[in-house]
Amino acid sequence: MANIVRAIGDRSIRAYIDPERGTVSRELYVNDDIFAQELEQIYQRCWLLLGHESQIPNPGDFVVTRMGTEEVLMVRDRKDHKIRAFLNSCRHRGMKVCRYDEGNTLVFTCPYHAWTYDTKGKLVGVGFGNYANAYTDTLPTGSEEWGLVEVGQICNFYGSIWATWDPKAPSFQDYLGPFAESLRHCLQSSDGEDAGLEFFTPFQRHRIPTNWKVPGFTSVTDLTHTAMTHRSAQAAGLHEDRGTGKETAKPFPQEKYAIGDHNLGHGGMCTFYDQLGVPDYANEWFEPGVDDYFRAQTERKKLLIADRIMPPHGWGGGHFAIFPAVMVDSWRIRYYHPHETGITERWSLFGVDKNAPDHVKDAVRHYAERFNGPVGFFESDDMENWNYVFPASQGATARKYDYFYRNGLGHGKYDDRLPGVVVNGSYTEEAHRARFSRWLAFMEAKSWDDLYPLNKSANHNIWPGVDGQASAKA
Ligand code: FES
Ligand SMILES: [Fe+2]
Repeated sequence: MANIVRAIGDRSIRAYIDPERGTVSRELYVNDDIFAQELEQIYQRCWLLLGHESQIPNPGDFVVTRMGTEEVLMVRDRKDHKIRAFLNSCRHRGMKVCRYDEGNTLVFTCPYHAWTYDTKGKLVGVGFGNYANAYTDTLPTGSEEWGLVEVGQICNFYGSIWATWDPKAPSFQDYLGPFAESLRHCLQSSDGEDAGLEFFTPFQRHRIPTNWKVPGFTSVTDLTHTAMTHRSAQAAGLHEDRGTGKETAKPFPQEKYAIGDHNLGHGGMCTFYDQLGVPDYANEWFEPGVDDYFRAQTERKKLLIADRIMPPHGWGGGHFAIFPAVMVDSWRIRYYHPHETGITERWSLFGVDKNAPDHVKDAVRHYAERFNGPVGFFESDDMENWNYVFPASQGATARKYDYFYRNGLGHGKYDDRLPGVVVNGSYTEEAHRARFSRWLAFMEAKSWDDLYPLNKSANHNIWPGVDGQASAKA
């Protein structure tokens, strides 16, 4: 297969995926041209996670986050207290206007020639501007035109902050589709209050030598990797010292699936609860007093949603993915920033009830560190695999051999409880295939007008055989 990648909108990129055979070319993971096009077609258009409002509680607070390969400043304005996001690149000659990870500021002054921006991104001063009229009236002070580049849209979704560069993108709620209620649920405190979490800072960050899609497209519903990859952690009984929700959910009547929404690209574990309300709390903490806190919270939550069924994804039943590369659990959010074709940064956010007492927050933080920290298990197991995938796949020989994504192909079915979503058993690569359906749709689309849900009649499912139907329901 040729290495030459076409111009935007050229459908020849389809040749890199063979839906009938259930395979994907390794070029998608190792080819620099494809990577460059992903940044334009996917990262310029999709809603991307910036962080959480709890990182910047006070006026003037800011953090540096990322959208694709680029740094973005997420700032709470000093006057209206709204959260905005700007490219961290000076409009004069492109220097980073902010070289700190986080802080509180009156203004952002560029270290190069002192162009200065307020917390709304407006240019409010320049070096020698007023004093010597150094710009000879070519640059009016307060120029709207030369402010920091602001994102196209920003959304505070129950405390989590998302943005897209594309003003034409659908609302974040529409972008999530049927996954919106599940994300909302995962952002509630343990007593069921909306936006009830705060996130520990600074986030855990790992720079990993692999393509962003290695973890980003396959690290949910990859149930066949666990017994092998996490063998040492399982042997140490790490799960048993504080469950991930499984223990509390077990007695509750439920059906588990892995699903992929081919039109939206989201997918993952899905638990249909067959009973109203919330399961009884089961003890799971070592630390004294922590179970008491969570048991009382669960009782409050029971009252709150006694007459409802919990949303299907994430809570107590594994995790789900939001396209392109965010993984949501009921106790953490992980996302993957591309840096280069073979370099990715993984950020992990761990949430805790913002109103919890300190001993509970400490216990939750310690668990997150045991599970995911630099000296923890699980995530380091995963990264060991992801990191070797890239060098072992990019060679002249290796890249000629396609990856296998056929697991469960043709065994999917629809379920009326989840419109537009293909349902399958637990051990399946359906969610992975859904990501490639959406990936291809973005790579081929000329604009959001071609893409679901702005184009309601779009059918992005490229894979064959769903109960005899060729494609996903709209
Ligand atoms: S590059 Fe920022 S002031 Fe010149
Ligand atoms: Fe894993």
